Amino acid sequence: SNTEKTTDQRLLNICELLEKHITYYNWVGFYFAKADKKELHLGPYVGAPTDHTVIPFGKGICGQVAVSNQNFVVPDVMAQDNYIACSITVKAEIVVPIFVNGENIGQIDIDSNTADPFTEADERFLEYVCQKVATLF
Ligand code: SME
Repeated sequence: SNTEKTTDQRLLNICELLEKHITYYNWVGFYFAKADKKELHLGPYVGAPTDHTVIPFGKGICGQVAVSNQNFVVPDVMAQDNYIACSITVKAEIVVPIFVNGENIGQIDIDSNTADPFTEADERFLEYVCQKVATLF
């Protein structure tokens, strides 16, 4: 039988590993830009289902990263005015863009139920994860 993994299966495996092994990573998912560069669409994820499967560029933390091409670390989501709430349990968020040939094609998005949990070590680690993810595209 064909046991070749699809890209979505590999992305889901990454989400599962991160959520399982890093206690303060409570929702882990990928959003990818549509070709028109106006919307992000939800890809594989683990954690509570979200209504926000499509996010316009510029909207929320994810939409801002689609435009800025920069990491966005949010220690306290309640202090953000351009924020899309997915779950009332979420206290903090980190979003790191994925670059393929210098182009921002999407991002990894992680929500935490712990306040202010993310350090520069999380940024460096997730940049490394995103570099590996980029090789799948
Ligand atoms: N909080 C994100 C929306 C996605 S959920 O976290 C899964 C945002 O503000 O863009």
